[in-house]
Amino acid sequence: MSEILLNPGPVVLSERVRNAMLRPDLCHRETEFVELQNSIRHDLLNVYPLPEDKWAAILMTGSGTAAMEAMMTSLVPDHGKVLIIENGVYGERLSKIAEIHQINHMRLHHEWGAAIDLKLLEDELQYKEGFSHVAVVHHETTTGRLNDLAGIAAVCAKYNLPILLDGVSSFGAEDIEFEDWNIIACAATANKCLHAVPGTSFVICNRNALDVMQATPPRTLYLDLSSYLKNQDANGTPFTQSVQTFYTLAEALKELQDQGGQKKRQQSYWHRLNIVREGLDKLGIDALMQVEECSCVLNAFHLPDGIDYQRLHDELKKNGFVIYAGQGDLSKTLFRISCMGEISDQELERFVNVMGSIV
Ligand SMILES: Cc1ncc(COP(=O)(O)O)c(C=O)c1O
Repeated sequence: MSEILLNPGPVVLSERVRNAMLRPDLCHRETEFVELQNSIRHDLLNVYPLPEDKWAAILMTGSGTAAMEAMMTSLVPDHGKVLIIENGVYGERLSKIAEIHQINHMRLHHEWGAAIDLKLLEDELQYKEGFSHVAVVHHETTTGRLNDLAGIAAVCAKYNLPILLDGVSSFGAEDIEFEDWNIIACAATANKCLHAVPGTSFVICNRNALDVMQATPPRTLYLDLSSYLKNQDANGTPFTQSVQTFYTLAEALKELQDQGGQKKRQQSYWHRLNIVREGLDKLGIDALMQVEECSCVLNAFHLPDGIDYQRLHDELKKNGFVIYAGQGDLSKTLFRISCMGEISDQELERFVNVMGSIV
């Protein structure tokens, strides 16, 4: 029996996407690869949708963190300064990247899971001058909190500051208003809400934002978005790409469109998570947050009384379900459930029944 993955990616693949991996072996310098790359770049811009003259999808081989690091190192100029909002592991990872690459930055720290304090954000932007960008995670997968991007964007707009977004666990499912929220770049990956395999990540980038970077020397060789963009616009690639992952991403993007696009995916994730939330609620297992605060991609739950994570995980795994631990100390109190990928309602109902038998 193949396992039902309830972790936040990699996801259970559809047969259609799985079979795409079996397409012919292909050299990344051949015209067939160019067609494949161009179709992915085009379809990625259509997910929200964004005009190709102003926006570019820049593809790289690497996990979501590669896209985060590419975005942070390629878009903040030498004379710039980024305010990084933290309320979980991934916001803190953005800060780590800035630190390693010596990018001028400040942290606006919150406890893991806390709502972002817009008043604090406003104070920071108002009284500490010199910021050029704000960086934030959309869906903080640490706790399942969907950060209030509309609110953050409204504050940033007062100070004319563009947003660098970690959309790794939201792109393809949650609403992202690129232009209204003044997002100039969004880092994301193939193997979460888009339902392809791990190995390819990308940055959706406003072309003007890269033009501004011409005076700043590249901070890395491999993750330099300007170099990727120049090559990909000219039908090339600076480095070998993960061809088989590209095959799956191209197919997964067609599948997303066939299934009704991002809004439909958002609805279907909520439908699935509601089966889980309501089922677990009846068993006395509480969700960490109210629905209004949560992403449709993942919700966190309190561990049932007297059952530690490892035991819960192992019992569920024996029954074909893989769940996800809380991060750091949260593993002692929380577990996380994501319903991305090819998962049926029946499987989720069975999951709830198995949970019932365990508790
Ligand atoms: C919001 C967010 N950002 C970044 C990452 C890092 O992605 P990866 O593990 O693919 O490098 C994750 C992974 O779960 C994530 O959820």
